[in-house]
Amino acid sequence: MSGFRTDVREWRSPTMKEIRGLISDLGRRRLNVPQFQKEVLRVYREGNLWKQLGPWIDECLKEKRDAILWREIMATRNFTLQLLYMAPNTAHPPHYHFNHVSTQLVMAGRMRAREYERLARITEDSVTLMPVYDGVHEVGDTMQTAEFHRNVHWFAALTEPTVFLNFNVHGLERETFEPDVGQHKGRNTIDPTVGGNERHIIGHKIDVDKAEDKFAHRAIDDFPLIIPVKKNARPQRVSPRSRKRAA
Ligand SMILES: [Fe+2]
Repeated sequence: MSGFRTDVREWRSPTMKEIRGLISDLGRRRLNVPQFQKEVLRVYREGNLWKQLGPWIDECLKEKRDAILWREIMATRNFTLQLLYMAPNTAHPPHYHFNHVSTQLVMAGRMRAREYERLARITEDSVTLMPVYDGVHEVGDTMQTAEFHRNVHWFAALTEPTVFLNFNVHGLERETFEPDVGQHKGRNTIDPTVGGNERHIIGHKIDVDKAEDKFAHRAIDDFPLIIPVKKNARPQRVSPRSRKRAA
């Protein structure tokens, strides 16, 4: 049907089964969030993802659209695994997440990214931030986000079409940085480019339309970082080549 930009698929696979098992372990508190995030990377590393998802990645690039691989929506939690397409030179504006644990893995293209830690709440609409990554994610690089870990990020496709695997779980954090004041389940836009001092940036929550206008078609490098990243840690990697095959 015209007008729809996403397809819902059911990626029935051992990898998907393992991921659902991890979500269940997180929900039952057999895993905490850092352990869960580590396990997601292990499953990805063992999953030969480029071979499994290759035809869908090609289709996203050809059709210039996203593909949902799995989605479950329940009363208090939901999760989605999806391939997200980004046109060259476009950005997902800076945003924070509420009660959200996610992993992004670059499957094709290159992704310019900035990531931030939230330090403290100033008002209902502003927060202090610390930049922790400012660089480029190549194929196989990951970006992980949780309530108290690199919660704010901003990323853009560079000069080539980019596809990344996005896995997000909503509703399973035990504590949240701020109360539930009606935040979105996915992106909540925030502007980290206005100002700060030598110790931190002030992030201002902004309306999604304003954020899209300001950031969606501009290079990240057009905007000041305000304060430098102290130490850029290399992203965690999931190799496009299968470990099993390489052995
Ligand atoms: Fe995000």
